[in-house]
Amino acid sequence: MNSQLAPLSSSTLNERHYEMLVQAVVDYAIYMLDPAGYVVSWNAGAARIKGYEAGEAIGLHLSVFYTDEDRRIDKPRHLLDRALREGRAQDEGWRLRKDGTRFWALVVIDAIRNEQGEIIGLAKITRDITDRREAEERYDALRAQLFQAQKLEALGQLSGGMAHDFNNLLTIILSAAKLASRSNDPARLASLLDNIQAAGERGAQMTRNLLTFARCEPKPNHLVDINQLLAAATSFITQALPQTMTIEMQVDDGLHRVQLDPSELDMALLNLILNARDAMGGRGTITLQASNRRLAGEVDGLHGEFVVIAVVDQGCGIDPAILPRLFEPFFTTKGIGKGTGLGLSQVYGFARQAGGCVQVESSTGRGATLKLYLPASFGRATDAQA
Ligand SMILES: Nc1ncnc2c1ncn2[C@@H]1O[C@H](COP(=O)(O)OP(=O)(O)O)[C@@H](O)[C@H]1O
Ligand SMILES: [Mg+2]
Repeated sequence: MNSQLAPLSSSTLNERHYEMLVQAVVDYAIYMLDPAGYVVSWNAGAARIKGYEAGEAIGLHLSVFYTDEDRRIDKPRHLLDRALREGRAQDEGWRLRKDGTRFWALVVIDAIRNEQGEIIGLAKITRDITDRREAEERYDALRAQLFQAQKLEALGQLSGGMAHDFNNLLTIILSAAKLASRSNDPARLASLLDNIQAAGERGAQMTRNLLTFARCEPKPNHLVDINQLLAAATSFITQALPQTMTIEMQVDDGLHRVQLDPSELDMALLNLILNARDAMGGRGTITLQASNRRLAGEVDGLHGEFVVIAVVDQGCGIDPAILPRLFEPFFTTKGIGKGTGLGLSQVYGFARQAGGCVQVESSTGRGATLKLYLPASFGRATDAQA
């Protein structure tokens, strides 16, 4: 049949050629519906994806491709109506094959008009994106697992640091109690009891923080006040640092808000600060900087308004030779039991997920600065729960 047609050029591309082109497409189901939703044409892709041959499909109503749930809520009708009203309707969801199995479909319905502008039918294009959806689900499951693994590691680190603090608090409580048992001076007794109470309350607060962190689950993204989050996170993380270390805050007021999962940002900060602690051998000052910045492609090709959060240390620095591997999962230069190599891969994954990036500035012996770039979001704060 091909040989009877003239070679294709725009001037000879007639309806018949289009028909053949559409017929030959196998990756997309392309078919026409009449305005009432009955199938009037059917291509090879439709036969492959839905399992009906053209002879069986033509004349069927499109609702046969929908699941019972969707039919119950009249979804096929609503999609048709929208396409007729607005010229186009799109949808993503489960559809049925002839054999009753389901596939995840991406659907576009376009209204087709004649020269007088009257609707003569609807063109429907369906793609089977089940594989893509499954890959996304696997990816989400992996991210959730990594988050969990990371949390366990971070909990280990935090409780290690806190055990030390608890010991100090217990020492305060025990010695105050001992002194009190030997004293008859009411003023002295009152002050010792105050000490005991303050130390007890601090211990209780530490446990509460640790439990909050232990319970935290990946959450859906929402608009987050970064100033608030940084203040809360650092006061918590400071407890996990040895007393020979301090965090200096250089945080601008009025940071843009960012659409993200706050538990992931907490974790990223914890990872960066614990790395700084390790690099500095557990003493000195870590600086936490944060400011707004407009980017025009100079950082990782990013454009727009961003919040930059930097963790700056004066530690051992990073050997340029290992820079390319820094964000790999399980890459660590620390000994067994000291590092898992999961920290920076979490930071990296989180930053990309949020639509930003991480940058490293460092050289051996000169300390390191790790910068998180997170895109500002100016949406309404309707769902901004902390
Ligand atoms: N602030 C830093 N200073 C020096 N080296 C760092 C710093 N942050 C990360 N690194 C290097 O990157 C490696 C990977 O870090 P990370 O993914 O957090 O894993 P881990 O801390 O468990 O080793 C570390 O082992 C270390 O060699
Ligand atoms: Mg780490």
